[in-house]
Amino acid sequence: MSRLRKEITSCSYSVVKTMSGRSIATCFRLIVHFKHKHENVRQIITKPFGGSMMNFQQLLQARRSVNQFDPNATISRDDLESMIESATLAPSSYNLQHWRFLVVDDKEQKLKLKKAAFHQQKVEDASAAIVILGNLQAHKDAERIADDLTEKGYLPAQYKENVINQIEGLYSNESMQRDEAIRGSSLAAMALMLAAKEKGYGSCPMIGFDPQLVRQEFNIPEHLIPVMMITIGTDLDPEMPRKIRFAVEEVTTYNGF
Ligand SMILES: Cc1cc2nc3c(=O)[nH]c(=O)nc-3n(C[C@H](O)[C@H](O)[C@H](O)COP(=O)(O)O)c2cc1C
Repeated sequence: MSRLRKEITSCSYSVVKTMSGRSIATCFRLIVHFKHKHENVRQIITKPFGGSMMNFQQLLQARRSVNQFDPNATISRDDLESMIESATLAPSSYNLQHWRFLVVDDKEQKLKLKKAAFHQQKVEDASAAIVILGNLQAHKDAERIADDLTEKGYLPAQYKENVINQIEGLYSNESMQRDEAIRGSSLAAMALMLAAKEKGYGSCPMIGFDPQLVRQEFNIPEHLIPVMMITIGTDLDPEMPRKIRFAVEEVTTYNGF
């Protein structure tokens, strides 16, 4: 096992070359063999590649809310931005993209966030915490969004004003502003966690924090609401068993109740 592990690691860091004279094909065969034999070590396989060998189902299965992050691990801003870019592919009502991301990767700032998160240790131990913010003023981007729709042929030019008016009408309602900010940002949050996993990082969504204190400590403008926080880092125990999930028949009805 340790021989394979060493080989896989060295292979991962020099994909273009070969490991100790082995061909790339051999290298990949070893990875596949290793992956099949030791499914739970896929982090070793995926992280150095910066790309996943997991298919979507495996990615979903592998994601867990991390209990304990490695406090010594770090994460690059390139990786963080790549995850955020993936998150922005989430759908949103009218494509208004309500999400904003406050990245906290500085030690001192993480301590501030930890305090606002009722001293949850994982905020400090995570390599970064991303506060997902929902934009209450997303409708102000209506024109930009409508322009794009028109330009790309989704929306005939003569209906552009109608769509802008429709969006502004809908968003004149404050609870709608809030619901949409939370809905859109939550979809982005899920995409972010899967993107993190795909890169070999663990994550934990967190709502255990005082939103007012977070707003105050990080000077968050009034039109952005903290929706949730995603801590990201190296999972010290990626083999934790999956927590209970209700069966499909318990959570599903067809065509009404
Ligand atoms: C909106 C939301 C808020 C959460 N808040 C916290 C939190 O403050 N602290 C924490 O340790 N876990 C938090 N969790 C993680 C949940 O406990 C976890 O997702 C759940 O137990 C299911 O476990 P799993 O994600 O490993 O499948 C939160 C999850 C969600 C979706």
